[in-house]
Amino acid sequence: MARRGAMQASLAFCFLWLAIGAQLSEATPPRTKFYEFNITEKKITRLCSTKSIIVVNNQFPGPQIDVEEGDSLEIKVNNFINHNITLHWHGIFQNRTGWFDGPAYITQCPIQRQRSFVYKFDVVRQRGTLWWHAHITFLRATVYGALIVHPKQSFPFLRPGEAKPKELVVMLGEWWKSDVLDVIGQAMLTGAGTNLSDAFTINGLPGPLYGKCSQQDTQVFNLQPGTRYLLRLISAAMNTELFFGIANHTLTIVEADAQYVKPFTTPSLVISPGQAITALFTTDRDPSLTYSMAAHAFASAPPFIPFQNTTTAAILSYASPPRKSFPRFLLPSLPPSTAGSAFSDAFAAKLRSADRVRREFPLPASPAAEKFFITVGLNVQSCPPTMNPNISCALPVPGGGRFGASMNNVSFIGSSSAFLKQHFDFIHTGEDPSTYTTDFPRFPRPYNFTASPAIANQNAPEGTKARIIPYGATVEVVLQGTTLLAPENHPIHLHGFDFYVLATGRGNFNRTRDSPAFNLVDPPLRNTISVPAAGWAVIRFVADNPGTWVFHCHLDLHSLTGLDTVFIVEDGAEEWQRLEPPPKDLPPC
Ligand code: C2O
Repeated sequence: MARRGAMQASLAFCFLWLAIGAQLSEATPPRTKFYEFNITEKKITRLCSTKSIIVVNNQFPGPQIDVEEGDSLEIKVNNFINHNITLHWHGIFQNRTGWFDGPAYITQCPIQRQRSFVYKFDVVRQRGTLWWHAHITFLRATVYGALIVHPKQSFPFLRPGEAKPKELVVMLGEWWKSDVLDVIGQAMLTGAGTNLSDAFTINGLPGPLYGKCSQQDTQVFNLQPGTRYLLRLISAAMNTELFFGIANHTLTIVEADAQYVKPFTTPSLVISPGQAITALFTTDRDPSLTYSMAAHAFASAPPFIPFQNTTTAAILSYASPPRKSFPRFLLPSLPPSTAGSAFSDAFAAKLRSADRVRREFPLPASPAAEKFFITVGLNVQSCPPTMNPNISCALPVPGGGRFGASMNNVSFIGSSSAFLKQHFDFIHTGEDPSTYTTDFPRFPRPYNFTASPAIANQNAPEGTKARIIPYGATVEVVLQGTTLLAPENHPIHLHGFDFYVLATGRGNFNRTRDSPAFNLVDPPLRNTISVPAAGWAVIRFVADNPGTWVFHCHLDLHSLTGLDTVFIVEDGAEEWQRLEPPPKDLPPC
């Protein structure tokens, strides 16, 4: 299961690298780490309101997975709930092992109740802060946890001789008092979008700013004074981008989406659902004071789309002796929720990959063999809907309609059987896939994508459309946000790959005007990019991982209403460039 491709491609370089690596690391041999995840229900109280949620091993957030780069993972998932489930290992490459990627009906049929499935994959050529989550309907609202890939070599951002920093894992989330399946079920039926969440959370807890109900639901970090900490921050929020900061403490950003960046300091940061940011901070301020870390919404679509206007906070103290209660604490000052675009653009521009990232993952050469221009946006869908006439049309727009989302004006509708198995069967038996088509358009029909007000015709036809990409092709995608229904940021996530983000901008992308500004020197390498509202992003990657890879908005309301497509990367000529055969326990649909 190793990435033999990469090793053979640069054998000489590799020998040199191994020799250096052997000196630098403690050279632990690769091992397999085993986990067993039991999916059950659990009663839990937040904001003085109790409900039953779906959890893993009775924990919320779920258990943290710790591996060292080069290890293999085997996670046996036992489904004890009354609902289908799958788990996705967000950011893991899954080279040739797409069977274990997790998105329901894309790479696998879900694990049915009282059934099990063992996810087995190698964690090679990557290191850093990642995470895992359910990948079916709205279940990831409570089914998520951190997946930390510890580097074999020491962190590149440490000063010579400096000790390893202590580590702190923080997962941001979003909490509804109602059952999350009711939240999405109701949204789908009314066609009006999901109700706003009731709180944001830090490690599953809303924190002290939600009235007296929430005092006890506060994460407290008792830290050591005068110490450097490595904060591994993950956004598991569902529908909202967030600003985050620590009162009176500067963050030094060192990694984004498990790829090192050139370190830079900032008082606060912006993080989209799906993204991970790793940052250093030092407990070197007045220890008699109590600090907090906090997050609130970055609402990129005011005044069009309402947002959850509250703040989640966790206590951070390094008083000695440690305190038990925290009547007063300092809050970070964060960019304003409804006027955060300038901060967000500036933050994005500061992310530059570390030199070693460029050496390990060479920037795909131009011109790209496979070029796409994909609009990402919202739609007012026609009523009555074609697929399900029971849906009502309660979207509050003149003339009515229902909430929808699309890529290149195709609103993705899930399949009833998994793409990957159909693709594999097609290769090996010639049986033609029937639940999807491979005509996802490379380009949109032309219109003024960012017209304000938006152009009128907003319906996007539904389809289950993918696109085939030859093995090894360089792929360049221009992601173009639209103003249809409302301009909003869309955090777009690609499974199976990291991609270089060459540039982002506002308005309509114009190749002649905008390509000279591409960063071909040190662009960030990411797995999720927030396409700015009524703006664009250009990404590039090499399609050297065979499989069916979903490419979607990580705002769950958007992905569940059609902002998705699938890249089907063909097998290469060599054995080590081909998708492995399916596991014996692959769940049936
Ligand atoms: Cu984090 Cu397709 O997901």
